[in-house]
Amino acid sequence: MSVKVILDCDTGVDDSMAIMYAALHPGIDLIGMTTVWGNVDVPLATRNTLRVLDLVGRSDVPVARGAAGPLLGGHADFAYHVHGRDGQGNAGDDAPVRAAEPIPAAQHIIDLVRAHPGEVWLVPVGPLTNIAAALALDPELPELVAGVSLMGGTALAPGNVTPVAEANVWHDAEAAAAVFRAPWRIIMAGLDVTMRVLITPEHSARLAAGGPAGRYLARIMEHYGDFYRDNAFGFWTCAMHDTIAVAAAAGTLDVRLAPVVHVEVDTSGGPGHGQTIADLRGAYRGYPEQPGAHCAVLLDIDDGIADDVVDLIAAAE
Ligand code: BDR
Ligand code: CA
Repeated sequence: MSVKVILDCDTGVDDSMAIMYAALHPGIDLIGMTTVWGNVDVPLATRNTLRVLDLVGRSDVPVARGAAGPLLGGHADFAYHVHGRDGQGNAGDDAPVRAAEPIPAAQHIIDLVRAHPGEVWLVPVGPLTNIAAALALDPELPELVAGVSLMGGTALAPGNVTPVAEANVWHDAEAAAAVFRAPWRIIMAGLDVTMRVLITPEHSARLAAGGPAGRYLARIMEHYGDFYRDNAFGFWTCAMHDTIAVAAAAGTLDVRLAPVVHVEVDTSGGPGHGQTIADLRGAYRGYPEQPGAHCAVLLDIDDGIADDVVDLIAAAE
């Protein structure tokens, strides 16, 4: 039986890999996609999403465009320096794409979830603006979904936009706070694990020797890997980030440690703004149950998922 997923992306480079994995994996039923501002502006995120779906032969997946900036307004900060001016590693791809659905992302999410009550995993891998907007429109959503598996936050690892904050949460901390507060099952795939699952030059070569999707992904990763070489690791590599949240929802990830704990988002506007404060004080007692906690924080996973993802995408014709 396949797992129903709605993937919400701010489609830059690692998002593109997540889309390919979700669209191609036989155990995943990608019933819809939504787009959000973040890595790039939302028109570009939408264009890139439609393009990547076309590349993997999944033009059947409905895509709805979402928020252009944070839930409460204010400055929208993008990450073109990480993902390229086109959000696709300056690959120069300008293939035409179909139009997005004529409804806003938040409504698309609600409609799809209500069509399959109890079955759908929401997988947001950009700022949480669309998910918070859907929650505000339909407060019953937490009872209607299977869960929310998000790429965002960090419990013990350093942040990537501030010393303590991860980009997706920091971009719209108020939206993230609303999502973490809502009473649904959450899996937090944060920097604790997503900076440890790395795409190597060898993976990239396997993709480049594969089908059209693999070749495209290898091309767009070049710039992204250069960013990680120069700003994080000192050697060429790509952090997989978003695909980890998809795999966690689908159950295709070998999870070694993921305590279910209380997580709160700092919205103070101070130096901790955007931090996901996870209560890991039970670490020395094997993480005893925390009444009311509903967020599984991924702290250790098997990095073999990188090979699985690369093989699946490289093999796509
Ligand atoms: C997250 O921020 C974005 O740049 C990536 O696509 C990923 O979702 C990593 O912090
Ligand atoms: Ca993303």
